[in-house]
Amino acid sequence: MNDMTSQPIIRFERVTVQYDDDPPVLRDVSFEIERGKFYTLLGPSGCGKTTILRLIAGFIEPTQGNIYFNGTVVNRVPAEKRQVNTVFQDYALFPHLNVFENVAFGLRVKKMKSADIKVKVREALRFVNLDGYETRRISEMSGGQRQRVAIARAIVNRPEVILLDEPLSALDLKLRTEMQYELRELQRRLGITFIFVTHDQEEALAMSDEIFVLNEGIIQQSGTPTDIYDEPINRFVADFIGESNIVPGRMTRDYLVEFAGKPFECVDRGLTPNEPVEVVIRPEDLEITSPEQGKLRIKVDSQLFRGVHYEILGHDEAGNKWLVHSTKKATVGEEIGLTFEPEAIHVMRFGETEDEFDKRLEAYGENGHVK
Ligand SMILES: Nc1ncnc2c1ncn2[C@@H]1O[C@H](COP(=O)(O)OP(=O)(O)OP(=O)(O)O)[C@@H](O)[C@H]1O
Ligand SMILES: [Mg+2]
Repeated sequence: MNDMTSQPIIRFERVTVQYDDDPPVLRDVSFEIERGKFYTLLGPSGCGKTTILRLIAGFIEPTQGNIYFNGTVVNRVPAEKRQVNTVFQDYALFPHLNVFENVAFGLRVKKMKSADIKVKVREALRFVNLDGYETRRISEMSGGQRQRVAIARAIVNRPEVILLDEPLSALDLKLRTEMQYELRELQRRLGITFIFVTHDQEEALAMSDEIFVLNEGIIQQSGTPTDIYDEPINRFVADFIGESNIVPGRMTRDYLVEFAGKPFECVDRGLTPNEPVEVVIRPEDLEITSPEQGKLRIKVDSQLFRGVHYEILGHDEAGNKWLVHSTKKATVGEEIGLTFEPEAIHVMRFGETEDEFDKRLEAYGENGHVK
């Protein structure tokens, strides 16, 4: 018998989705979803996020590849036979039913006994802090409360997986932040796998155990929020997640990269000597010092006070622009020095995706020698 706990709850194996002769909307997508974690699909509009949710929910089938639930292929298993519930962006609540009946709806369809329904709905409403709202009409609930009703409806039958398609996008910023905490907390208490879709990178960083960054139907990078923030794999990811300085450079050899006309020690290896690369340094990894002590010199073009830090924009002699986050103030027009650690430099091969990166390092060998 399969050990249900050790294998991923969901696995995509080289899944492609294509409509007619259009370019594929998902290309060769492979990933694993582990039980009880919070996952986020992050990417710009049209990159294929909802398509992945629809594949998991069973609303569409892959054109190529396989989808596994607990080790079994489910490509043709219909939605109602999967242990998955979806929270839709517009919540899809029934405005003419009260809160209780909205949450009870699926259980009634399944012909569950009335007494059992009562227990389950009460419990689900308690989970989302809507005790006592049973008889309220949906039209009398606020946006945040409707959101909670939609979540109660998704969790009432304890599915194995809950899919959430941009569930917070209709809320204002403050409520949205509150709901981020609530959702994350709810997921921890329930221990159900959540797959959450957003195009908001801060939301993804704040909430997830693991993030899949998607662009044009391809997973660019997957990993923990810190992995992805600290080690973006290409320009797209570096640009999409947080603010970055991205400048052109050249990999002189392992652990030495050249940019802005100077050599810098770094921690990257496995690229071809003299290969053109893109170099990323996060604005908060740059420290201001005197021009003499700086590894780089920039001229300050503008400065904004952002509450906790100053946001300083400048340029170096090679014409690269630099964004610096610092608690130190600078003066527009003055020359300042910038220092940074070798670890703050991230070297990226042009347009490389995670799959390609993994293959490259594998071929390169763990001990630093080409196999
Ligand atoms: N039934 C369909 N027929 C043809 N093309 C489709 C169909 N459904 C989706 N697409 C296309 O697939 C691509 C991915 O769509 P998807 O809904 O997955 O994007 P998304 O990442 O969820 O975007 P958004 O953030 O705007 O919701 C889009 O280009 C879309 O036009
Ligand atoms: Mg979508």
